[in-house]
Amino acid sequence: MERVAQMNALPGRKGILLAGGSGTRLYPLTKASSKHLLPVYDKPLIYYSLTTLMLAGIRDILVITTPEDALQFRNLLGDGGQWGIRLCYAIQPRPEGLAQAFTIGRDFIADSAVTLALGDNIIFGSGLRERLDRAAARGDGATIFGYRVNDPGRYGVVTFDGNGRAVTVEEKPADPKSNFAVIGLYFFDNRVVDVAARVTPSGRGELEITDVIADYLGRGALHVEQFGRGFAWIDAGTHDDLIEGGAYVQALEKRQGLKIACPEEVAYTLGFIDAQQVLDLARPLRNSGYGAYLERLVQDG
Ligand code: G1P
Repeated sequence: MERVAQMNALPGRKGILLAGGSGTRLYPLTKASSKHLLPVYDKPLIYYSLTTLMLAGIRDILVITTPEDALQFRNLLGDGGQWGIRLCYAIQPRPEGLAQAFTIGRDFIADSAVTLALGDNIIFGSGLRERLDRAAARGDGATIFGYRVNDPGRYGVVTFDGNGRAVTVEEKPADPKSNFAVIGLYFFDNRVVDVAARVTPSGRGELEITDVIADYLGRGALHVEQFGRGFAWIDAGTHDDLIEGGAYVQALEKRQGLKIACPEEVAYTLGFIDAQQVLDLARPLRNSGYGAYLERLVQDG
């Protein structure tokens, strides 16, 4: 990554990192600990979506967790100052749906635009930062991302017309009309707070993000970008997803000697922290090789 000292996100755009939910699809792994803190090769799952927000130039982030997991998240991530960002915390008492993030985060969002990242998503590929910058700089409407998958029925599904414009969005349709899943990263203008407040529970009893997106689509205010071949998107919802995600990260990191989703590196690259701060962060991480990686980063400039 080339070092830059500038940010292109809309000034004041805020981020929400949603790490609620009971993770029952991963039981017993997640019976006593949060899915979002499970390892994906060499770092906790939550690092991947946190760094996605950081790469979008977002430095003011609300982390939403379950009441049981809140302390562990604070222990891991702190107040974000070590990475030149600001993290604050809120609780989602029950798993009542993704759209609830905007109600819980209403005061935090205030009059800003906001980006929601699901804490169990891994997104990686060359040119990611430019795409995120573009979405973050968009003042009006919403931007979501479509990704071709074999099993769209597990996700939100978006369909397109012949000109590549979105036509429908549906949550986990029994009979999906396209292969394009909606990934767990959503850029909204400030209207989302009001839109989300009007959403009512779906058949499965959740406030669905898809209903929020459908509102933007209906008003002609939805941009959908597609991630093509060569991009990786993993929603670490099942045991297989978790191990496939870990194997993917391992393969790329070993091959290239470069880490994916390293908050210290992203912060340094984007100019959020300086070389001395990276070295200070590296010291306690020396035993795992992670620290040596950070030291090398500074030496290589
Ligand atoms: C959620 C959303 C779905 C989206 C997916 C992406 O599903 O409801 O629209 O495609 O995240 O990760 P969940 O994984 O919470 O069932």
